Amino acid sequence: MKKSYFSLFVAVILAVGAVSLSARGSSSGGVSIGATIYNFGDNFMNGVVAPALKKHAKENKASLTIVDSENQQAKQNDQVDIFINKGVQVLAVNLVDPASARTVIEKAKAADTPLILYNKEPTEAGVMDIYDKVWYVGTNSAESGILQGEMIAADWKANAGWDKNGDGVMQYVMLKGEPGHPDAEARTKEAILSIKGKGIKVQELALQADPTWSTQFGNDTMAAWLTSGFGEEIEVVIANNDGMAFGAITAMESAGVSLPIYGVDALEQALQLIKEGKMNGTVLNDGKGQAHAVIDLAMNVAAGKAPTAGTDWKLETDGSKAIRVPYVAVTE
Ligand code: BGC
Ligand code: CA
Repeated sequence: MKKSYFSLFVAVILAVGAVSLSARGSSSGGVSIGATIYNFGDNFMNGVVAPALKKHAKENKASLTIVDSENQQAKQNDQVDIFINKGVQVLAVNLVDPASARTVIEKAKAADTPLILYNKEPTEAGVMDIYDKVWYVGTNSAESGILQGEMIAADWKANAGWDKNGDGVMQYVMLKGEPGHPDAEARTKEAILSIKGKGIKVQELALQADPTWSTQFGNDTMAAWLTSGFGEEIEVVIANNDGMAFGAITAMESAGVSLPIYGVDALEQALQLIKEGKMNGTVLNDGKGQAHAVIDLAMNVAAGKAPTAGTDWKLETDGSKAIRVPYVAVTE
């Protein structure tokens, strides 16, 4: 008798447990996504991409957790392990180090968890092939440099006075993003190639890179350049992103200098600065679109569907397994 009461008791406890578990599953909204952002200090990732990820997850009733990898790949690797142990259905990873994709992909593969890498495209050739459930969402990095270079070239031709020393050469300084990051590498190279491609001679007075693409770096670096031996010679300032350009603008204002300056991202603040005539141009990096694509893909693959099923996104057919959201030039 006693025994059967006990087993009934156990059965009831188990049943209640099961109900509360399934209730938890449905109230937290179906698909669970574990996401990392390489550094919450990043203007673009934190200001544009993260809010859009949350918005689209909510629209899809998905439960999304976003963690800050604090610019440490080792920390991010641990975060991926924790997500996997918790049993998330999809991983969305903004790598800290684009060269470290293999470790993360291998973890996802071992757990058979679909993985969407975004914003930092893996740099190791062939690494996307080691797992059938890994995809990339980002941009065509070169495009942003080309668009930026084209607008700089057009403005240079329209403003004869920008050639301060009248030597027919554009003396520029370059604020570069994270070395090894495909966006930073391509922007730095392609912007200059496209300016030259418009028949303009250029001279690089200085180039410095910041792994965190930060406003502080833009400010400190520009301040140092302005007081350096070549400070007076600078004719154009080119930044790989708006964040660094904002800092450079502050440094110029403090020094009482105004020079043509260009960024990438088209953050709200950049559009405002362009309106005020303090910035000359930027290139829209459609972070909202990229976040939208990440969530659309996550919903599909969690349901076992083809990644782009029922969406307008197109996967590249070049083996990169990438969705590339277009850039748009912005000058007003
Ligand atoms: C953005 C930068 C950002 C970087 C982070 C780039 O696509 O343009 O603003 O810092 O991504 O990985
Ligand atoms: Ca010149």
